[in-house]
Amino acid sequence: MSTHAGQLSLALLPTAPADQVFATVLAQRLGLPLLPVGSDPGRNEQVDAIVIVSGEAVFVQQTGRGAPGPVAADFGGTAMRHRRRSGHNELLGKAVGVGKKPRLRVLDATAGLGRDSFVLADLGCDVLLCERDPVIVELLLAGMRVATAHGDSWLDEVLGRMLLCPGDAREAPTASLAGVDVIYLDPMFPQRDKSAAVKKEMALFQLLLDDNAAAQEADELLLWALQLDVARVVVKRPPRAPDLAGRHPSHRISGKAVRYDVYVQRKL
Ligand SMILES: C[S@@+](CC[C@H](N)C(=O)[O-])C[C@H]1O[C@@H](n2cnc3c(N)ncnc32)[C@H](O)[C@@H]1O
Repeated sequence: MSTHAGQLSLALLPTAPADQVFATVLAQRLGLPLLPVGSDPGRNEQVDAIVIVSGEAVFVQQTGRGAPGPVAADFGGTAMRHRRRSGHNELLGKAVGVGKKPRLRVLDATAGLGRDSFVLADLGCDVLLCERDPVIVELLLAGMRVATAHGDSWLDEVLGRMLLCPGDAREAPTASLAGVDVIYLDPMFPQRDKSAAVKKEMALFQLLLDDNAAAQEADELLLWALQLDVARVVVKRPPRAPDLAGRHPSHRISGKAVRYDVYVQRKL
């Protein structure tokens, strides 16, 4: 059993004998114990969650009764296509300033499962994705591999505008920050009601991350971003959440479930 940064115990499971080699490599990379091929994640009571390898795909399944379904980085899947068609991406595009400059360069400093990065790349931005959690980095890498294997020209084009930079955004090489126009932040916020049903992706983030450190870290991340030479910093927040680090944004773009706080530092 291995304990993750957020005090979560994890193990790695190859689904079939053909997955054994990659699963072994991944287990070493992540420092996780390897479970016997094909064991039933539903019956595992030793760990909190299992990283499952199945062909090209990698996903995380929480264990225990009533656990939410598996979580993966799913680029170009039904949920993403629906979000695209329904126009939900427009607020994010407006917040970062899509259309104000061709091929806007965005640093997504909290990439997570890459959904917002994918939306931004689909809107024509060049996106550098920073993600510091090693398990989530593997989910992102696998999601990109699976999407590339589709042979879909739209997906290839969008993925071609996404570059993954594993590690803490604040430690990203200076060269990779050159020419960045916008820093985008979607930090974790502490869960207000532990019993409330949360989406399975959010449930995973909450498991992986240390809740107590999250609020303070989010403030620090904004202050870090604001001292960089970028035109804008955009922060995704729950509608009624307080401003990060007590810093009042230049303007807000609000939707039903989310708001974007926009800190304008100069013209795009
Ligand atoms: C709420 S999730 C972001 C979800 C993402 N916007 C999406 O669309 O899937 C926050 C993520 O930021 C990552 N994170 C937090 N602070 C970070 C930092 N300083 N550098 C890199 N990643 C960070 C966490 O590990 C977590 O995966």
